[in-house]
Amino acid sequence: MKMDVLLGLQWGDEGKGKIVDVLAPDYQIVARFQGGPNAGHTLEFDGIKHVLHQIPSGIFRSQILNIIGNGVVLDPIVLKKEIDGLGKFSIDYRKNLVISKKATIIIPTHKLLDAAMEQSKGDKKIGSTLKGIGPTYQDKIGRSALRVGDILSEDFQEKYQTLVAKHKTTLSFYNYPLDQLEEMERQFFEAVEFFKTLNLIDSEYVVNQALAEEKRILAEGAQGSLLDIDFGSYPFVTSSSTMTAGACTGLGVAPSRIGEVFGIFKAYCTRVGSGPFPTELFDQTGEDMRKEGNEFGSTTGRPRRCGWLDLPALKYSIMINGVTQLFMMKADVLNIFEELEVCTQYELPNGAKIDQLSFEVSNMDVKPIYKKLKGWNCSLKDVRSYEEFPKELKEYVSFLEEELQVPIKLVSVGPDRVQTILR
Ligand code: GDP
Ligand code: IMO
Ligand code: MG
Repeated sequence: MKMDVLLGLQWGDEGKGKIVDVLAPDYQIVARFQGGPNAGHTLEFDGIKHVLHQIPSGIFRSQILNIIGNGVVLDPIVLKKEIDGLGKFSIDYRKNLVISKKATIIIPTHKLLDAAMEQSKGDKKIGSTLKGIGPTYQDKIGRSALRVGDILSEDFQEKYQTLVAKHKTTLSFYNYPLDQLEEMERQFFEAVEFFKTLNLIDSEYVVNQALAEEKRILAEGAQGSLLDIDFGSYPFVTSSSTMTAGACTGLGVAPSRIGEVFGIFKAYCTRVGSGPFPTELFDQTGEDMRKEGNEFGSTTGRPRRCGWLDLPALKYSIMINGVTQLFMMKADVLNIFEELEVCTQYELPNGAKIDQLSFEVSNMDVKPIYKKLKGWNCSLKDVRSYEEFPKELKEYVSFLEEELQVPIKLVSVGPDRVQTILR
């Protein structure tokens, strides 16, 4: 058996949470492999809207085992709040949620460091969610981080204090105040006590054993390929490997064990935080897209930048991930437009036209070249099958399939589970 991977192909917030929840009944395991509380994955069903940050989006399906893998950076305070928030759903989280002992822990000073480093960057700031992601992955790669398994060891306090002492030196370099630290530490140690009661495991064995037993696993990506640490718009990226390869290292699954790769994209583009965004719209059209798509961050509430679909960027993400099926999200948001635009190439400052995200292109101001398409300009609210799609939406889908050379197998026409059309 192979493990399927579902990931975002743009700058995050493509609708991954919704689709993992929709697909979950076909799987026995859903596993997060990277990122942490910077993610905000929204699910809507039975009139309920719920946002998950670290817990995999299979948690609302009682038969699913949800795994937080070794590649994740985990904030115990956020996890405790998330689990408390599940209280009203009567979920047996001690049975349905397991956490890798090799996942990395976000400690309070990581969050202070995140804030200090952002502040020091001035107008070059990344636009981090300030959840401590960058500093925690820095410590992981720097071989000084604390891992989930460490909280069970007798010398956890000592390890913690050693790391905090190191952080305090850096914080004093940034002249960053420590007044919040005491209260943050109180919450942290309270959450750590709770954490000890959870099901902490060596998840790589569970995952590989499940594959050997022909069980179906869906790996749930966070963020998006254009925020990947290697291939995203560096330095305006997150600090993890958000691509298919990250699912291998973030769960301990061999590359030969990867099955389908589901690439999720919005029918347009959004980005929250700083960094290049060639098709960004600064006019009323962008404003209308944000309003219609309710484009405000699920984690930070920040307004998302909006723009037309960017095909060179999408082709790049498909290439580096080996996407086998495309899922197009939020088609209904484009209902309001009589005419749609899709970027097919970039024009460089010297007039040359290009459709690749080379190192140079990623670091210069490029002008998008657009193809115009007719919009469908009608509601998709009650559409429940591909046959019922307006002609112009079918043409939009066919045009994209032709350009991207990967089939679009799912089109989402609203936030609810039921507003999902499979082809
Ligand atoms: P994720 O981070 O990829 O899981 O995506 P987010 O949850 O951050 O953002 C996606 C937002 O779009 C959420 O508010 C979803 O409820 C909403 N959403 C998902 N699919 C659709 C859709 O097809 N149409 C509309 N209008 N909203 C959608
Ligand atoms: P989901 O999983 C959208 C962005 C931040 C910032 C950059 C770095 O919900 O799609 P970080 O906190 O990681 O240091 O921030 O990455 N970012 C996201 N944008 N969706 C996300 O997650 C994101 N996680 C991080 O806005 O620009
Ligand atoms: Mg999100």
